[in-house]
Amino acid sequence: MSDTSPDALCENADATDAKSGPELSIVLPTFNERENVPLVVEALRKCLEGVNWEVIVVDDNSPDGTAECAKTIGQVDPRVRVIRRIGRRGLSGACIEGMLASSAKYVAVMDADLQHDENLLPRMLQDLRSQDYDIVIASRHVEGGEVGNGLSAVREWGSNLANSLARRFLQVDLSDPMSGFFMLRRDAFEDLAPSLSAQGFKIMLDIVATAKGSLRIKELPFVFRERLHGESKLDTLVTMDYLGLLLAKLFHDRLSIRFLMFSFVGATGVIVHLAVLKTLLATGLAQFSAAQLVATFVAMTSNFFLNNRLTYRDRRLKGSAWVRGLFTFYLVCSFGVLANVGVAELIYAQQPLWWLAGAAGALMGAVWNYVASKTLTWRQS
Ligand code: GDD
Ligand code: MN
Repeated sequence: MSDTSPDALCENADATDAKSGPELSIVLPTFNERENVPLVVEALRKCLEGVNWEVIVVDDNSPDGTAECAKTIGQVDPRVRVIRRIGRRGLSGACIEGMLASSAKYVAVMDADLQHDENLLPRMLQDLRSQDYDIVIASRHVEGGEVGNGLSAVREWGSNLANSLARRFLQVDLSDPMSGFFMLRRDAFEDLAPSLSAQGFKIMLDIVATAKGSLRIKELPFVFRERLHGESKLDTLVTMDYLGLLLAKLFHDRLSIRFLMFSFVGATGVIVHLAVLKTLLATGLAQFSAAQLVATFVAMTSNFFLNNRLTYRDRRLKGSAWVRGLFTFYLVCSFGVLANVGVAELIYAQQPLWWLAGAAGALMGAVWNYVASKTLTWRQS
């Protein structure tokens, strides 16, 4: 009698009328890449001849209709699959979901904008098949690799800083920890997946850091191409996002990256406030109370601006929503001051320690501002 245990049934599934599944899944995260997706698929067809591959496009409901376009290709080429995510944004999360949807032996992640050289894929696959490596990473910084004209000078500086930080704090020694182009064994990925952070965009670094040295890594050089169509979704400020990931990993994911960033912005606000106050007083432009009021508004405005660019970059407000957001932020912060002073006074009355009362008040204000602005100013649409 044949074995009917679930394990045996999984292993001996009847597939007489099916072709065998793909050996390699290529995950393409997309946001507004309608013009690029058909070109990438065409490029993959050419360079992966003889390989049993599939593409998994993970699209965050791009307004330009990327998902629709990819599904149209899928109608004629079943190797092209699409996951359309609604109400969500984020590169890492998209990559994780794409890889989890694969049942192939190997998975790769690659930009869908032709900046990553697809001709590297066959070599990456070969290195994994050889069983000498668990992950192959395309690097712009090993011998032979080049950033080309694809990355600005500021980005490159940020990228170098990121490399040394990763080495120092995460004990990850990669020549290009920011690379978003890599291939690995799916079973290795599945083991790590529950511990990965879906926030941010540094998925490869997260995988390598989480594996804590258990992955055998190979780096291959490549030249980062320039974008032909569309625009980059990651700007210089992604460096902040990266610092957030470093901190979150250092604290074993027990801290919210968003709150950390919000607090960091709050700290810059204190500096802005004092600088404006000092300038107004020193130049005699205003008396203390007027100067203090102006400084408060300048600091709130700069906090709003930075939070909109950094903390809530994925929900960035623009146009009239920006103006509305600014006024709700003023409102939120005004109550934040009340919460701050109220708590500080309460504590000071019990325990007249100025630093304890001051710090508790500031923390209360920060938490209030964070929670209230999250629901009022940058509410998820
Ligand atoms: N699903 C989804 N959701 N995809 C996204 C999102 C998102 O929120 N944001 C970006 N993408 C897609 C883009 O459509 C593109 O295919 C890929 O992710 C990379 O985004 P780009 O906007 O092209 O990034 P880049 O070229 O500026 O950044 C490159 O360098 C970084 C390191 O400096 C990429 O190679 C990154 O992967 C790399 O980390
Ligand atoms: Mn790109």
